[in-house]
Amino acid sequence: MKLFKKNNAVAIDGPAGSGKSTISRLVAEKLGFFCVDTGAMYRALTLKVMRKNIDFSDEEKIAALSKDMDLILSPPETGSTWMRVVLDGEDISKEIRSLEVTGNVKYVAKIARVRGNLVELQREMVRGLGGAVMEGRDIGTVVLPDAEYKFYVDASFFERVERRFSELKAKGTPTTRKEVEEDLKARDHTDKTREVGALKKADDAVYIDTTDLSIEEVVRVIIGYVKKT
Ligand code: CDP
Repeated sequence: MKLFKKNNAVAIDGPAGSGKSTISRLVAEKLGFFCVDTGAMYRALTLKVMRKNIDFSDEEKIAALSKDMDLILSPPETGSTWMRVVLDGEDISKEIRSLEVTGNVKYVAKIARVRGNLVELQREMVRGLGGAVMEGRDIGTVVLPDAEYKFYVDASFFERVERRFSELKAKGTPTTRKEVEEDLKARDHTDKTREVGALKKADDAVYIDTTDLSIEEVVRVIIGYVKKT
């Protein structure tokens, strides 16, 4: 069966804590595609800016850094949800998930020139891979507007906080439910209101409310669409 007709691309967007990363990885596995986690790219750039002590208001310098990133994304190690991320030859998979990086991504993600450079890199990745499952905030709307399949995964705010809190607890990251709640509230706001690449469901994306669904159920729904259409 030939599943894809146009460009071999599945775009999955949604807010933090919607289960997007795990779902995307499993969908990619089932379809035999690579999964590109675009959030990891914004996180890697944020870490680089922090390490170089560049001020987050210095858009010139940050845009220049984003143009020349030696970044390798590869599938996660067994037991991990997250992609393996190597920047300038160093494995930074764990560091980019720190609360500090998470809190600072917003400064980098709102810079139009940064987004332009990363979007270009993301498109090149899909072309180079001959197709991919790509997840993020603006994939169906900006990065791959012609993606053959588009999904927007969401969940209630309460459920997303619960998921993110248990995830951090399981990893041993010291935090409180209140802190997670505040982080998600702030990120929802900046993600949805930034001038470029804001989080938004594409008109032609399938909306999936995952609040009462297990990861396996969501994956089944997505694969069902891909096989059916
Ligand atoms: O895993 P989580 O959903 O918490 O975040 P992520 O997907 O790793 O993305 C981290 C941050 O990068 C988000 O809060 C977004 O602000 C930003 N991002 C973006 O601006 N555009 C994308 N395509 C992906 C992520």
